[in-house]
Amino acid sequence: MHRVATRAMNHERVAAHLPVVRQVADDLVDAMTADGRRADDLVAGYTDRLPLLTITRLLGIPADDCDRIRRWSGAYTHSHPGTPQALLPHRDGPKFVGFGGGRHYCPGRGLGRAILAVGLERLRTRLPGLRLATDGPFPIAEREVGGVVTTLPVRW
Ligand code: HEM
Repeated sequence: MHRVATRAMNHERVAAHLPVVRQVADDLVDAMTADGRRADDLVAGYTDRLPLLTITRLLGIPADDCDRIRRWSGAYTHSHPGTPQALLPHRDGPKFVGFGGGRHYCPGRGLGRAILAVGLERLRTRLPGLRLATDGPFPIAEREVGGVVTTLPVRW
């Protein structure tokens, strides 16, 4: 299964998916800026939705099912407290383990990086004046992989 998943997301396949990532990112920016709006929550409007919408679109999952997929993947990532060992991305050490390692090394790492790169590039291009709307601190939820910012008020 791991080999199949890794082949399905190799460099060429990820490159072929880039237009979809770009389209999803642009659709989200369109929605955030609709009716001349100049402020939004970047997490709710963009960062929380870009990976999920991209992957479901690539897999052909109907947009109406996205909320269910979000609930299931949330339930999965919250259902392992205190199990594999703790993942400490900020620890001192030579090796990056953000995508795991060994036999479970993340097969989606290329696509994950592509979504991040395209997502940032589209924000920079479409909203060049993007900046924080208020001073922090911003709410952070502790997840298995570390702290996750849950709200980020921005304007442009
Ligand atoms: C920045 C984004 C991503 C991060 C940080 C990430 C991180 C990880 C990590 C740490 C593991 C190893 C888990 C373990 O050892 O038990 C993993 C496994 C996995 N990831 Fe990702 N991932 C990302 C994106 C993706 C994407 C986009 C996909 C697919 C579309 C994906 C599919 C998988 C699968 C199927 C596994 C299980 C592999 C196995 O157990 O053999 N990941 N990921």
